[in-house]
Amino acid sequence: MARRDLETTILPIPNGWFAVEWSKELITGQVKSIHYFGEDLVLFRGRSGEAHVLDPYCPHLGAHLGEGGRVIGDGIRCPFHGWTYDGASGRCTTIPYCERIPAKAAVRTWTWDFPLLTEIGHPDWSEPRTFELEVPVHVQDMHENNNDPVHFQFVHGNLEPLPSDISYAADGRAYRISSRQIRDTPYGRFETTLVRDSWGIGLSSVATEGIPGAGLLMFSSTTPIDQGRTLSRWLLTATNNMVDMAGEDFMIGLTTGVMQDLRIWSNKVHRARPVLCEADTYLAEFRQWVKQFYSSPAAAD
Ligand code: FES
Ligand SMILES: [Fe+2]
Repeated sequence: MARRDLETTILPIPNGWFAVEWSKELITGQVKSIHYFGEDLVLFRGRSGEAHVLDPYCPHLGAHLGEGGRVIGDGIRCPFHGWTYDGASGRCTTIPYCERIPAKAAVRTWTWDFPLLTEIGHPDWSEPRTFELEVPVHVQDMHENNNDPVHFQFVHGNLEPLPSDISYAADGRAYRISSRQIRDTPYGRFETTLVRDSWGIGLSSVATEGIPGAGLLMFSSTTPIDQGRTLSRWLLTATNNMVDMAGEDFMIGLTTGVMQDLRIWSNKVHRARPVLCEADTYLAEFRQWVKQFYSSPAAAD
């Protein structure tokens, strides 16, 4: 067994909000079998346009709803005997050959409303470019990178850690890090602010503010496939007046940065009790914050 396997503390799958597909990859009436969080799931888009995720195994005789199931209205019909489940509640709504529906005829639902980023799809902003990659690392270790200012200097060659402020949403589940930076842009030199928002450990966005009349936005999601693998998705958009000048550099900068991180992520172990120095304040704060996403908080230690 490799040393990495022996030394890794295997973290459980955290709770929270995670992306399971790009919206554009799921058309109305489409059904997909997916695997995230160490579980088999079925994903489909109902006729109203709502997307749903359900546990895929039919309570009747256990057929997989994603393997031949059909969208009926906003529900999905099992391929085996036609029992139909509502996407929003997971309850069985129809058994084609029986009036009475057993009380236990329901599957678990997985739904959540995403905080909408108004830039995506806005006419003043460019069509989003997307990029995705499977990374052999636990989702928590990937997210930790955002709270690791020193690594930007060593891994990404930035000059020095940026001066930053951190603030938390009232429920403590989301937070914002704002960093100031002087940037040379095609329009001149500006003091810009990089605003990173994170919702749980699965979703985040980085907006560049402070360039008059122009902006850049990156959205990223990290979704656990299982305890050792994460599917990461990135989306980039820029204001139309900037996209010819900066769009390509932005994309190159992002993909280069990810490749630099990838070598660290793919080979690191998870230190449940890292030896931190007194300047590692962001890392220490992150490790405290992240505990709330585990069903048994001790598991995160
Ligand atoms: S197994 Fe799904 S309807 Fe029978
Ligand atoms: Fe990084």
